[in-house]
Amino acid sequence: MYLLGIESSCDETAAAVVADGERLLSNVVSSQFDIHAAYGGVVPELASREHLRAIVPVVREALSNAGIGYRDLGAVGVTCGPGLIGALLVGVTYAKGLSAALRIPLLGVNHIEGHIHSVVLEERRAHRDVEFPALALVVSGGHSHMFAVDRTRANKYSYRLLGRTRDDAAGEAYDKVAKLLGLGYPGGPVLDKLAPFGDPDAVRLPTSRMKGNHLDMSFSGLKTAVLRYVRDADFQTEIERRRVLFSRGRPTIDALRESASDECLALIASFQRTVVRQLLRRAEDAADEEHFASVIVAGGVAANSGLRREFSSLPVPVYFPTIALSTDNAAMIAAAAYPRFLRGEFDGFDLAAQPSLQLA
Ligand code: KG4
Ligand code: ZN
Repeated sequence: MYLLGIESSCDETAAAVVADGERLLSNVVSSQFDIHAAYGGVVPELASREHLRAIVPVVREALSNAGIGYRDLGAVGVTCGPGLIGALLVGVTYAKGLSAALRIPLLGVNHIEGHIHSVVLEERRAHRDVEFPALALVVSGGHSHMFAVDRTRANKYSYRLLGRTRDDAAGEAYDKVAKLLGLGYPGGPVLDKLAPFGDPDAVRLPTSRMKGNHLDMSFSGLKTAVLRYVRDADFQTEIERRRVLFSRGRPTIDALRESASDECLALIASFQRTVVRQLLRRAEDAADEEHFASVIVAGGVAANSGLRREFSSLPVPVYFPTIALSTDNAAMIAAAAYPRFLRGEFDGFDLAAQPSLQLA
């Protein structure tokens, strides 16, 4: 059974074909980075327009890479939320069209559930299985959520929200700090690659303590502390140097490293350590309170090398998706749709794009 996944919730138009819920036959992602880079963040109107341009060729390429045609598809799964309304509508409307034309089931998928299933898919591909109950940390540009995840014998997944960010998402903090330092968009990959060149103990940054639910997270205080630090430091010359570099196209990491002072690299390393420590502490606190057989870390920030290193200290198996399936993609959407396909839980043509859809 070939299931086509479609993802268009933010700034990536993606399509993937997954066979029998475990064989990833194709995974096409068309990124809008260069379009939004000039603005230092995603511009919703531009995102919708680019999804409209990309959706047909991206789906066609996914089918062609998988070596199948439209008529071979058994179902279509599409992200229906959370995300940008105009962006979501492109994927949802296109998926409804396919479902109607090909007379195949339509399955609306929660994007956050998709991120969790990136790991389930990759374990199944490797002929292994995720151990449940699992603690899942979904950290991306739009979300920082922690869930208790379980699976019944009937392959039904359940999610219970344990904690979430009260303000910015972890990836959003990365993007804002990178923008502040003139390091382009998206900020996570660049800061991650520069962090090893700085001293992570050099700059003291605040770690957040939460009143109320102590498993909640917060990243805006950290961002403000970095902002204050940058205001007092003398980074203007190097930021200007980087502005010139970016005006000639996307600079290499080496060029960005050469442009950066030791003080700036120390700030980046300290920032990365503070984010990673907060996420690790929350996972440890959750694991102190109830039993988890494993930990799943997913979402764009799961690509972070510091996070991967530090989480390996946990006493249970920790699953990270490969880098390609950490950031937004449609393979994870097809993977999340599959168990619902097996149970016959299809959506109708009244499936709506839901910008604030919750998982739990
Ligand atoms: O999951 P994703 O592709 O999109 C959302 O659902 O938001 O995540 C994108 C986010 C961006 O904020 C990006 O800066 C961050 O993930 N990111 C990283 C890394 N790679 C991507 N953050 C930290 N370290 C990385 N290596
Ligand atoms: Zn995402």
